Amino acid sequence: AMAEKAGYRHFMLKEIFEQPQAILNTFRGRLDPETGKVQLPEIGLNAVELKKISRISLVACGTSWHAALVAKYWLEKWVGIPVEVDIASEFRYRRLLLDETVMVVPISQSGETADTLAGLRLAKKMGAKVIAICNVLGSTITREAHGTIYTHAGPEIGVASTKAFTCQLTALLLLTLFLGEVRKTMSAKNRKAIGHALLELPALMEQELPRLQEETARIAEAFTHSRDFLYLGRGSNFPIALEGALKLKEISYIHAEGYAAGELKHGPIALIDRDMPVLALAPKDSVYEKVISNVEEVKARNGRIILVANAGDKNCRRIAEQVITVPLCHEELNPILFVVPLQLLAYEIANLRGCDVDQPRNLAKSVTVE
Ligand code: G6P
Repeated sequence: AMAEKAGYRHFMLKEIFEQPQAILNTFRGRLDPETGKVQLPEIGLNAVELKKISRISLVACGTSWHAALVAKYWLEKWVGIPVEVDIASEFRYRRLLLDETVMVVPISQSGETADTLAGLRLAKKMGAKVIAICNVLGSTITREAHGTIYTHAGPEIGVASTKAFTCQLTALLLLTLFLGEVRKTMSAKNRKAIGHALLELPALMEQELPRLQEETARIAEAFTHSRDFLYLGRGSNFPIALEGALKLKEISYIHAEGYAAGELKHGPIALIDRDMPVLALAPKDSVYEKVISNVEEVKARNGRIILVANAGDKNCRRIAEQVITVPLCHEELNPILFVVPLQLLAYEIANLRGCDVDQPRNLAKSVTVE
């Protein structure tokens, strides 16, 4: 079994470390290094049809739903199309306002999740264009969708999704660049800048992974016996806070909640004490100052703070008990980079607690029943 894991202790750790290669596989052959232009012929819609899209509806469960939440920020910012995001089990039981101008995008690692599949079938019946984002070749969702953008992450064995998630994000960013060009909502300059940053991401992630594992392993020791955790983020990193909290819950069985940092004062601040550590995502982006002022409120209440920030951030040592640094890159790529230390932190804490990381209790890799 060690051979299958390529020398890693668990599939999850192997899959975390495979992310640079997996992300490369997602954009390889699709992203032009010179122009940042993206080809996605598998969508199967012509320019006229693509211009007619009035709305995008993203439908998914679990970690895939978190990828959808990030994509809403990207698509609305760069393509200017309204995007709605649904948990599949909610989507299928509410009144849907769909027609042929709506592009419905089911997102699923396995392509077999029952609720996501049911959502796809409903959307098709109502005439929507259904373009799936999926990892498993030939899975049910890919067979029923009008088109599929494969993530090419390779097989994911660990129940807690890691590389499939960062590849879903990569595929959704490619979709953003693609639609931004076809619909002429994005300048060539912006497209190139994001395209180039994406091309450089695998090498950057590869270089940082060993250090991130060391840093998170050290921090994990200080929080092994915590019973509750709060994860905060803003903007496109708010869904990353949700994903970080989900990873911790899934494999360490510590209660964790993800929250939009600005929402702190509307409830969770009442819980802050020495027993409720707060992990905050604070990349140097357009909402950085806002996050820092939210974190100051935690500090003022004597909370224990782990800050995930960009290298060179002078503020963070003053505020936080622990700091995890992530290299500076294009703002749009932060969600893909910042989730990595959160995956590792959950992994290290779960290990210290003696949990079965690859096969957590009560969870299944794919949920094929309602
Ligand atoms: C299960 C898995 C999660 C996954 C979710 C959606 O809950 O344990 O890791 O995110 O299903 O799965 P899908 O295959 O549709 O992405």
